[in-house]
Amino acid sequence: MKIIVTGGNGQLGNCIRKISKTYPNIEFFFYSSSELDITNKLNVEEVFRQIQPKYCINAAAYTAVDQAEKEPEKAMAINEIGVGNLASVCKHFGTVLIHISTDYVFDGNTNIPYDENAVTAPIGVYGKSKLLGEQLATKENPETIIIRTSWLYSEFNKNFVNTMLNLFQQKEELNIVNDQFGQPTNANNLAEAIMTIIMSNNKKYGVFHFSNFPETTWYQFAEKIKEITNSKIILNPITTDQYPTPAKRPFRSTFNLEKIQNVYGVVPENWTESLEKCLKHIQ
Ligand SMILES: NC(=O)c1ccc[n+]([C@@H]2O[C@H](COP(=O)([O-])OP(=O)(O)OC[C@H]3O[C@@H](n4cnc5c(N)ncnc54)[C@H](OP(=O)(O)O)[C@@H]3O)[C@@H](O)[C@H]2O)c1
Repeated sequence: MKIIVTGGNGQLGNCIRKISKTYPNIEFFFYSSSELDITNKLNVEEVFRQIQPKYCINAAAYTAVDQAEKEPEKAMAINEIGVGNLASVCKHFGTVLIHISTDYVFDGNTNIPYDENAVTAPIGVYGKSKLLGEQLATKENPETIIIRTSWLYSEFNKNFVNTMLNLFQQKEELNIVNDQFGQPTNANNLAEAIMTIIMSNNKKYGVFHFSNFPETTWYQFAEKIKEITNSKIILNPITTDQYPTPAKRPFRSTFNLEKIQNVYGVVPENWTESLEKCLKHIQ
């Protein structure tokens, strides 16, 4: 069996590369954006013609949430049109597309965890571009599996955990937002969840939510990183108003995780336990 992974050098791409070694019977093909540019449909077709993959995991995305406010065309080209290209080429070649989306498709104005049928209402360009990508993928190829995830981190690339570890070395004190709620996700757990879905004999298409649990805030997340790494940094909880950013973030984007568990048997891990494993790996 052959699997194409777009965005192969990104954070999730690297986690899939890591786990791929435990599947000796599967041939994985990882592509950087220069080797497989999802905005270029001819490029996508050429690669698919050559490989004829059974699955395509789309780990490619425009992920710069604040920068997206300044360059919406670029965000849409990658997160909407690029995803549409992949979905339509997947349909043509009989490839199952596993596409990754985000909690930022929601506005965050809720106290009830979002299930997959909850009303979407993105509040920034990035979230809008990801939602349009979901919609276009489903239109081009209804047999697409969309996994929404949240607060992704790992030992690879730029993410909240790696940023905290760097700042803990450089600063004595940090202010961290304590009024946004969500569920961190170790991208290694997401890679495992994707592989569980691929190995499942009974495919169900559509949207699935996946993250670690329970909900927390960025400040509590940072406090846990501090505790596990025995850092002496002083962390101060602040409000979103005290830390303005170009893009607005959802206030509470906690996922309901029942569907992926019921349909695919994917059991999400507690975020503090998963964080400990990741930090042990980094140290
Ligand atoms: N990071 C988070 O907190 C978070 C939260 C929720 C959901 N997500 C979603 O999770 C998925 C994985 O995120 P991530 O953190 O792994 O992202 P990432 O580290 O930013 O990696 C994204 C990759 O996309 C590739 N890419 C960009 N434009 C491309 C194009 N036109 N064609 C092909 N590849 C292109 C880049 O490749 P090159 O490096 O080769 O240019 C990059 O390596 C994304 O769908 C993201 O929206 C992320």
